[in-house]
Amino acid sequence: MDAMFPKLFERGKIGRLEIKNRVVKAPTYGALSNIDGSVTDRMIRYYEEVARGGTGLVIVESASIDNKASKAAPCQLGISSIEHIPGLAALAQGICDQGARAALQLTHFGRDNFLGITPAKSASRIPMSMGGLGPFATFADEPVPQELTIEEIQDIVKAFGDAAQRAQTAGFEMVEVHGAHGGLVTNFLSPGTNRRNDMYGGSLQNRMRFLVEVVRSIRKKVGPDFPIGVRLSGNDYEPNGVVIEDTVEVAKVLESIGVDIIHVSGGSHIRGNHLASPMSVPAGHHIREVEAVKRVVHIPVIASGSITTPQLAEEILESGKADFIALARPLFADPYWPQKAREGRPEDITPCIRCNDGCQDRSNLRYRPTQCTVNVALNKGDTLAITPADRQRNVAVVGGGPGGMEAARVCALRGHKVTLYEKRSLGGALIDASAPEFKADLKRLIDYYVTQLKKLKVEVIQKEATVDTFKKGNVDAVIVAVGGTPLIPDVPGIDRPIVVTAMDVLRKKSPVGQKVLVVGGNMVGTEVGLWLAEQGKEVIFVEMLDEFMANVGIFDQLEYHERLAKQKVAIHTGKRLESVIDKGAIVVDKFGRRQEMMADNIVLAVGFIPLTSLREKLEKEKGFEVYAIGDCVSPRRIFDAIHEAYLTARKL
Ligand SMILES: Cc1cc2nc3c(=O)[nH]c(=O)nc-3n(C[C@H](O)[C@H](O)[C@H](O)COP(=O)(O)OP(=O)(O)OC[C@H]3O[C@@H](n4cnc5c(N)ncnc54)[C@H](O)[C@@H]3O)c2cc1C
Ligand SMILES: Cc1cc2nc3c(=O)[nH]c(=O)nc-3n(C[C@H](O)[C@H](O)[C@H](O)COP(=O)(O)O)c2cc1C
Repeated sequence: MDAMFPKLFERGKIGRLEIKNRVVKAPTYGALSNIDGSVTDRMIRYYEEVARGGTGLVIVESASIDNKASKAAPCQLGISSIEHIPGLAALAQGICDQGARAALQLTHFGRDNFLGITPAKSASRIPMSMGGLGPFATFADEPVPQELTIEEIQDIVKAFGDAAQRAQTAGFEMVEVHGAHGGLVTNFLSPGTNRRNDMYGGSLQNRMRFLVEVVRSIRKKVGPDFPIGVRLSGNDYEPNGVVIEDTVEVAKVLESIGVDIIHVSGGSHIRGNHLASPMSVPAGHHIREVEAVKRVVHIPVIASGSITTPQLAEEILESGKADFIALARPLFADPYWPQKAREGRPEDITPCIRCNDGCQDRSNLRYRPTQCTVNVALNKGDTLAITPADRQRNVAVVGGGPGGMEAARVCALRGHKVTLYEKRSLGGALIDASAPEFKADLKRLIDYYVTQLKKLKVEVIQKEATVDTFKKGNVDAVIVAVGGTPLIPDVPGIDRPIVVTAMDVLRKKSPVGQKVLVVGGNMVGTEVGLWLAEQGKEVIFVEMLDEFMANVGIFDQLEYHERLAKQKVAIHTGKRLESVIDKGAIVVDKFGRRQEMMADNIVLAVGFIPLTSLREKLEKEKGFEVYAIGDCVSPRRIFDAIHEAYLTARKL
């Protein structure tokens, strides 16, 4: 059964704790607790499902260790009092009952206090500076933390020990100290955020003193045999921040004082593109750092960060670069990732596309429990489970984009007879969206759907569907998922030959010259412009709004800014295309000032309009129900198309 990924399903050990395989659930704060940090039933249900999916070790999300400044996020889990123990005990039991091991992450968020509760506390008075462009810019105004006094440091060190003891009492089998991503431990480790002149600042030995004391305090409380892990950012990518050369030294010391496992992550809340890396960052982002740590310690090492496929996970284990693989977002996308890998059917794993739209932009950054673009049922318990339909119906789906394919999949799973009409090929706008290599994760989503539709025997007909297609009365319901079409602005000169659409460029229908003016600094415009710039073109962006990339996810923005900064690009905001001229365009700003911009081509990326006519015509027919989903209702995101598809298919 484990033949396809033998390493992944080898038993492992952390200290004396046996783990049934090498798959670890990376901790993910999910806003699922009560306000007082106590465990909720939905939290237990969520973790039980992760454990049921086959994960060997579940590290439960960051729990705040005291009732002071350690808590940093709304409805964050707490382990600050014995009042938390009963709920935590039920949670640990729920995980263990499903055959997994239960660990708890102990956290003090230090500088990164997203609640804005003042005073925030850190090693020094260095704020979490977002410069207006940070994942948590919508949260409280970057409070300047107070510098911890020696007495306060000692209190926190003791609080970590007490919290670990509570975790042990509650039935957790391991604790992990959160020493990554910009929390208090990193605030001490990083020279950028630690400017202290006392025994906790200056040399690396001094900067790691706090962490060492925390580990010793925990060990004193939990006894010699209880596994302690520490999560570190190998490299946090912050200015004057944590670097791998320091991290390996820290790892050696941690081993020498009895830490049982090191969990290597990377990035920080400010450098979110290196923490929960978007699809534009290569997979296995922290492997270099993981390997560096693994080389210097004898205790096991967990690799984490953008390890989305079992193939990559197996490769990392096989090459000896790590002993365990941690998954965060991939288990949002599919909690049954381990089980499906074990059964040798990785093609059935709903792929995490690292879009960060569901789990970050629509959840974490909006104070909401975690959602997922590709897994509508996440955190919904049984309420949104796929159940068999009361009676089998003939369902037609028009359009093979993510909306249409998800609708067809769910209808087929519910027992309906499904026919899908697609005039191009399955994938819809994802085919165009994944043309740049930095959006290649989307191809895996197309592959997943193509495979699932085949396995579910959905009949795919490659032709354009019209009203006549359904006049014979052979369907009970039609789900229209025909998407949108590029908006062409009505300005003088728009039909000149130098004008092309972003879609034409992505489809390689229209080659462009050396100097390109991209109209629209939204997601599609930015990505097409970046793609062209990285091919060596000179790119000018003109965006009507004052903000460039206004509709781009925050972690993508961070990454795209980093990449654009290396290219020959100019970005103009607050300017609109007024007309196209022979060798360029006239743009006008909000004060009416005109400017001539020369370019070989004008690439239009000013949005999409929904294709509504088929739906309107079908609604005039009798004998079947009509539903519309996704971009043909209003052009938006994959999240919207998939969620509307799923919810519609559940109704039929
Ligand atoms: C370049 C680009 C990049 C993008 N990047 C992202 C991203 O990173 N993240 C994100 O969330 N969203 C992204 N989007 C948006 C996302 O792709 C869309 O929101 C999503 O694809 C909408 O899905 P849909 O199923 O509603 O429609 P579509 O994906 O547009 O699919 C509609 C399908 O219907 C077919 N069709 C139309 N009429 C008929 C007919 N009469 N008969 C048969 N077939 C028909 C079309 O050929 C097409 O395949 C991007 C879009 C583009 C264009
Ligand atoms: C919604 C969300 C919440 C997270 N919460 C935590 C957390 O509580 N503690 C932590 O150490 N990392 C946290 N992370 C980081 C993840 O554990 C992980 O390092 C990151 O998502 C990259 O791994 P992945 O590519 O497998 O998702 C969080 C990530 C996400 C997306």
